[in-house]
Amino acid sequence: MGVIHLVPGFQPAGATIELEKLREGKVLVVGGGGREHAIVDALSKSLYVSKIYCAPGNAGIAAKAECVPIGDHDIPALLAFAREQHVDLTVVGPEVPLAAGLADAFTAAGLRVFGPTQAAARIESSKDFAKGLMKKYGIPTASYVTFSDYGAALEHVRKGPFPVVLKYDALAAGKGVVIAEDFAQAEQALQDLHRFGDGKVVVEEFLTGPEFSLMCFVSGTEVRPMVIAQDHKRAYEGDRGPNTGGMGAYSPVPIISDEDIRYAEKEIMEKMAAAMVQEGCPFQGVLYGGLMKTPDGVKVIEFNCRFGDPETEVVLPRLKSDIYEIFRAVADGTPIPEPEWSDEAVMGFVMASKGYPGSYSKGFEINGLEEALSDPDVKVYHMGTVRGEDGVVKTAGGRVLMVLSGGKDLLQARDKALSAVRKIQCDNLFYRNDIGWRVLS
Ligand code: AMP
Ligand code: GLY
Repeated sequence: MGVIHLVPGFQPAGATIELEKLREGKVLVVGGGGREHAIVDALSKSLYVSKIYCAPGNAGIAAKAECVPIGDHDIPALLAFAREQHVDLTVVGPEVPLAAGLADAFTAAGLRVFGPTQAAARIESSKDFAKGLMKKYGIPTASYVTFSDYGAALEHVRKGPFPVVLKYDALAAGKGVVIAEDFAQAEQALQDLHRFGDGKVVVEEFLTGPEFSLMCFVSGTEVRPMVIAQDHKRAYEGDRGPNTGGMGAYSPVPIISDEDIRYAEKEIMEKMAAAMVQEGCPFQGVLYGGLMKTPDGVKVIEFNCRFGDPETEVVLPRLKSDIYEIFRAVADGTPIPEPEWSDEAVMGFVMASKGYPGSYSKGFEINGLEEALSDPDVKVYHMGTVRGEDGVVKTAGGRVLMVLSGGKDLLQARDKALSAVRKIQCDNLFYRNDIGWRVLS
């Protein structure tokens, strides 16, 4: 019997449909954190997906995907694996392999890939490139000056005003941005940033206001926005302490109006997608706008070339559409189906190793994961875990778990997620109690 083509959800009267026939797609997800767990979870609901691999994955992802021991930076090994296993679609989580040309290598080999080319990934991998495009195309952002010479940068900041924002030009794993309150801090920050290498440094105007993340599925000039989310970058309660990869997130973000969102979609995300086509580096994948609602309107803080982490963990659970269809359309350059979203609220708490974002130890046993999942609205996405040879799940990273819940509103989502967090026992984890404080207090 041949393959039966059908529209998901539509079954002609009298027809015996074997849904398994639709499940043709073998997918490889590249990465091994909470973002990739959320992507794997969304793909596992697809009518089209028969098999999910994840490289390298983690202990939680292993419940829904076959984890393969290939590092997410090892492009030749990933390519060989995708070829050997006849993978139909590769979805890339992290920015480093994209900036290193993973999508270019896969496309050149005739393999379907969801993620931007190296040239398009510059929107994240070079702050100077991103700022230059925003300036050229009139996309609202903080004013800035770029320096190759750190001495000249120091002379420039001497004049003030403070605070001033200093950004290392290239990828720096979230550690390349410093907000200096005075000249002494700026001098120290410039020395510290210089340690990343001889890259340029961007000196930027300090903006104020609530931040939010707007991620869009983008293929050339076509832009399909996701629902917005808010991340919590600081390590400790009250938004104090060092910047991290993100300690929690929630969606929707009621302090950002629909008008602001529409403005950001049209004047920021669609304009940037069109600009990149114009510049000869069309974007294909997820374009992430890190935005701020300033007293002068919504402005760009940064662009990323991929799904945000931990925003993805609270956004994808709200997606009602089949994500494989969206990924495939973006990768093939065919029209992207309009994603549908649920009205529920989702909030998630990151449980991180004590000491993170500084140095921390690994290998601590985690118990209570099953109990945490006793509420059907709760999900636990693993960010940095391994299963030991004794079968016990252990900590294996800075950020370890993202515990989240859906609810009719953010208050309910928070209460459910927090009670799940409290069921998890581990000697070396901490979390922020106050995720969502800006909208719930
Ligand atoms: P980035 O890695 O560019 O997102 O910067 C990290 C964090 O630094 C952002 O989430 C903001 O909280 C803060 N930040 C970056 N640029 C600015 C700016 N121009 N004004 C105020 N805060 C900023
Ligand atoms: N949550 C911020 C990021 O993914 O860069």
